Amino acid sequence: MIYSSRDKTEIDQLAVFGGKPLFAEALHVGRPNIGNRDEFDARVADILDRRWLTNDGQYVRELEQRIAELVGVKHCIAICNATVALEIAIRALGMSGEVIVPSFTFIATAHALQWQEITPVFCDIDPRTHTLDAGKVEKMITPRTTGIIGVHLWGNHCNIDALGEIAKRRGLKLLFDSAHAFGCSYRGRMIGGFGDAEVFSFHATKFLNSFEGGAVVTNNRELAERIGLMRNFGFTDYDKADFLGTNGKMNEVSAAMGLTNLDSMDDFVAVNRHNYNHYATKLAGLEGVTLLTYDEKEKCNYQYVVLEIDKTKTIVSRDQLMEILHKENVLARRYFYPGCHLMEPYRSHSPHAGMVLPETERLTNRVLCLPTGTGVNTSQIAQICQILRLVVENGLKIASRLGSTSSARLVEGATPGV
Ligand SMILES: Cc1ncc(COP(=O)(O)O)c(C=O)c1O
Repeated sequence: MIYSSRDKTEIDQLAVFGGKPLFAEALHVGRPNIGNRDEFDARVADILDRRWLTNDGQYVRELEQRIAELVGVKHCIAICNATVALEIAIRALGMSGEVIVPSFTFIATAHALQWQEITPVFCDIDPRTHTLDAGKVEKMITPRTTGIIGVHLWGNHCNIDALGEIAKRRGLKLLFDSAHAFGCSYRGRMIGGFGDAEVFSFHATKFLNSFEGGAVVTNNRELAERIGLMRNFGFTDYDKADFLGTNGKMNEVSAAMGLTNLDSMDDFVAVNRHNYNHYATKLAGLEGVTLLTYDEKEKCNYQYVVLEIDKTKTIVSRDQLMEILHKENVLARRYFYPGCHLMEPYRSHSPHAGMVLPETERLTNRVLCLPTGTGVNTSQIAQICQILRLVVENGLKIASRLGSTSSARLVEGATPGV
């Protein structure tokens, strides 16, 4: 619900200075997109009627088939979440020793390696795309390196050709963490068909959700078979396990949600794109605030509205801006802060990693993500932008009133994680 004091035009009206919050209910980043409820209910009723809840069920198979078709790959293996999907794909690909990954990613990319005692070696990113800097990747290869994991962050594709060329020439496995990139393309081909395999996330906050869920997609039949077996404890037959496996199965209700949302995928893109364009229009020309752009020639899910805040121009820091928005009940998020290399266990393992990650460190202090998706409407976006404009245009006054104590109260109540 929105308060009647729609427009805040004076800085005294800001909630951070005692004014009434702009929104009575919090606006979150990553509120789930939910498709047709009747369709979902019908599928769940069918699952219950047939008493088939998990273990290679009909809806999981249908979801796998539809994803494979949509992405244009031969094989899709649905998994309970993308973290387990990454773990399984990493193991099935035979990665070991060291694997090169960005630090500017969700920590699951690194954890999926470290969980199996493979060292994630953090590489810097290209500041334009926020994805691995291929030129720097090559310099981090050692005799222990067995693979590269590129992350198509925000749905922006990595430098796929350059990474592919390096992997081929140096005999490395190439996996893509495509958790953000379902429905996106690269040179007209859908993300999912590149490298040795790619991993999608269908977590509730993602563009397409199955409550929790994920999938590995690949064109390699042998790899797909291994992943399928690893997902189910390594069983090759009743009472017969042939190698180490885990429980990575997706359940039928999750698959039903995935299918239902797949049916509404085009609507979700349209809403996200409309929201994105609205933010772009309303924030145009605001000094020190840059909206991450997407390649118009490619398909994109527009799931993330990512700002970069240049404090030298806004005077108010990214963290102060976030605090101001939180007080207005706009739960903007500084994604991937402070970078995997500054979180445990990596911080202790490689205390000097930051020295080779200047772009990552710069970006983790600039990025701010704003609410979008089907849970946010155009007038709310206009109001959020109006607050941003009011704050940035009065940066000096606000920064001095906030003083240096404000950042201590950051992200109180925000959900940690994705
Ligand atoms: C880049 C990235 N990789 C991996 C994951 C892990 O996905 P899941 O939550 O499905 O395990 C996420 C977020 O959830 C992510 O943002």
